[in-house]
Amino acid sequence: MYLFDKDGNAYLDFLGGVAVNALGYGHEGVITAIRQQVEEYIHISNYFLQEPQIELAERLRSITGYSGVFFCNSGAEACEGALKLARKWGNANGRSQIVTMQESFHGRTMGALSMMTNADYREGFGPFLGGCANIPFNDADQLSALISEKTAAVFLEIIQGEGGINELSREFAGGLNELKERFGFLIIADEVQSGIGRTGKFLAADHYDLKPDIVTLAKPLGGGLPLGAILVSEQLMDVLKPGNHGTTFGGNPVACAAGKVVLQEVVENGLMKNAADTGSYFIQQLNMLQSEMPDAIKQVRGKGLMEGMELSFPGKSIVDAMLERRIIINCTHGNVLRFLPPLIVEKSHIDHLCKSLREAISGGKLSR
Ligand SMILES: Cc1ncc(COP(=O)(O)O)c(C=O)c1O
Repeated sequence: MYLFDKDGNAYLDFLGGVAVNALGYGHEGVITAIRQQVEEYIHISNYFLQEPQIELAERLRSITGYSGVFFCNSGAEACEGALKLARKWGNANGRSQIVTMQESFHGRTMGALSMMTNADYREGFGPFLGGCANIPFNDADQLSALISEKTAAVFLEIIQGEGGINELSREFAGGLNELKERFGFLIIADEVQSGIGRTGKFLAADHYDLKPDIVTLAKPLGGGLPLGAILVSEQLMDVLKPGNHGTTFGGNPVACAAGKVVLQEVVENGLMKNAADTGSYFIQQLNMLQSEMPDAIKQVRGKGLMEGMELSFPGKSIVDAMLERRIIINCTHGNVLRFLPPLIVEKSHIDHLCKSLREAISGGKLSR
């Protein structure tokens, strides 16, 4: 749970390498798996079957029920690949429109940017990909006004991370399912930040009656090494033919070896359960703070260990004040404090965080 600076000071980390370090820092199992794989082979090319890749893909299939797994190197690349897959499937079915959500974040590549709306990321990089149309997140009316038989896919985060920890509403999820029944488009869930147990279930979509056709994963998957994945349902298995899409480094065996340990710890060794249990304690504590300081704290949002606290003022001063107290948090969307701790977090860490937050927000004196 701790990062150390060059003078040896410990910092309690509630950002977890921006949702990457799910197992915390220095996990013995990850280190051993990486060491062993480095001694076997580091890279051999995708002309050969590689055991760590296949084993990790099999684990993902059995955990999620998806039929196919494509490995890549990052979240953006997973989203880019999912978009290509949707376009190829759509083109074969007379559909090209991709419907996306305002305030979403899918990465920094041109395809990802084309699906986003925030000017901070997009300004100066146009023109963008055609055929992408966006609606306000959770606006079921605008969704149904936009969807047609030309829609290839609806691309969304189940909980918007960079956008300020905005949760998908049940009403919107229900509307999405109904429209899908009628029009037959694909649902693509970007679970790069919310996936792999962080919200207390393996996918955040599992909290809803929602079965996306495609899911993108990355962040914690490689135990700190670059690794992303696209999961696809059975009907999409044959859309991409060999050579249509690929990557030199994607599914690197060292990253996949680490990934197997990540899945084991998250699914079998209790971290997902900890995310659910400790996560509900966390939300409770944050809500208590909110009721104590309703003028400063507008709302608490999130699921499991993906939490946001919306302030009525810019959050940077609080992030700085927390760093002075040797606690790492982050602010997104200007005024939303974001908490993405490693999934090993304990109640005592949360108590310490909340005590410090109370002091920082009420402008109290520094205490360590
Ligand atoms: C939901 C979501 N999608 C995609 C990405 C892009 O991932 P990467 O930075 O690995 O390209 C991020 C990164 O923060 C993300 O949160």
